[in-house]
Amino acid sequence: MTNFESKIRTIEWVNNCSRMVDQTKFPYEFNYVDIKTGDEMYDAIKTMIVRGAPAIGIAGAHGVVLYAQELAKKGLSLNEFKSELLKKADYIVSSRPTAVNLYWAVEKQKEIIKSYEGDIKDLIKTLTDNGKRLELEDIEINKKIGDNGAQIVPKGATILTHCNAGALATVGYGTALGVVRSAFANDPTVKVFADETRPRQQGARITTLELVMDGIPVTLITDGMCSYFMKKGMIDMVCVGADRIAANGDAANKIGTYTVAIAAKYHNIPFYVAAPLSTIDISIKTGDEIVIEERSHDEVTIINDKKICADGVNIINPGFDVTPNELISGIITEKGILRPNYTDSIAKLFK
Ligand code: MRU
Repeated sequence: MTNFESKIRTIEWVNNCSRMVDQTKFPYEFNYVDIKTGDEMYDAIKTMIVRGAPAIGIAGAHGVVLYAQELAKKGLSLNEFKSELLKKADYIVSSRPTAVNLYWAVEKQKEIIKSYEGDIKDLIKTLTDNGKRLELEDIEINKKIGDNGAQIVPKGATILTHCNAGALATVGYGTALGVVRSAFANDPTVKVFADETRPRQQGARITTLELVMDGIPVTLITDGMCSYFMKKGMIDMVCVGADRIAANGDAANKIGTYTVAIAAKYHNIPFYVAAPLSTIDISIKTGDEIVIEERSHDEVTIINDKKICADGVNIINPGFDVTPNELISGIITEKGILRPNYTDSIAKLFK
């Protein structure tokens, strides 16, 4: 097992509320904010105070508990309480459509609610305990992903990553950056190239911040530079996270990931996706079925409160793209590394 200890805890249930790092303020501030109501949690996910597929999964599970605490004050019968809470749970899931982890974690809470018979206070305690359990499980899963992935990182490798699939996208440790952390623990000559990741700049604002905090060497590049460095032989492997992986291995991740995968294929560089099993959605056959979140046009047109383009220009801002399975060398999970043919390797894992 890895001996790397990351200093970062992204989200935690504390004193009947959800404490999370406010990721909208990076890199200027590293502050925690307490989310105290279900509606506040919906907004925190939507506005990306918390972001990253596994982290928003935990946020969703916490959000259900927050709504439960509020509904408990209304004097409802158990059946009324359950029915209202299930509606609130679905509302939370609607905050961000692409990352399946949000749906997955809220569904775990819904299963408890649906089958519960007893008093409301105990139900809230059961949901709270389940949220805390999912938190700890997330860190353990990430460490396993990290250790499995570290085995295929060449000595002294430079790993290119896109967006932030790190401790700050999970409860702690990270998926793609979990692989980096575990590899770095064994070999301190491992280093990272981080794409800046337009338009929200998760690479520049978040990946560089958490790697610098943990003392892991990182070089920031702009999104258009990856092929240049690949051609120069300066990238040994690519490792990214995922928001939803279809049953055939097609993987949705932050917009721009597909471009990186094509460039990696052209330059014969291995391209890995690191993700927990909760990111694999076996209910969809291919990536064509993944709903891609369309985000605010301001993310594209405004930088640092200043408009950067002509008034009246057309804007399209999909938050994610889907990398076809044939560009993916392996999917690193807590249960090992899946290899093509993914339809078979994924089906075998979920049997
Ligand atoms: O829009 P974001 O910042 O939530 O998108 C995050 C990503 O695309 C991550 O790469 C993905 O969620 C994997 S996180 C371990």
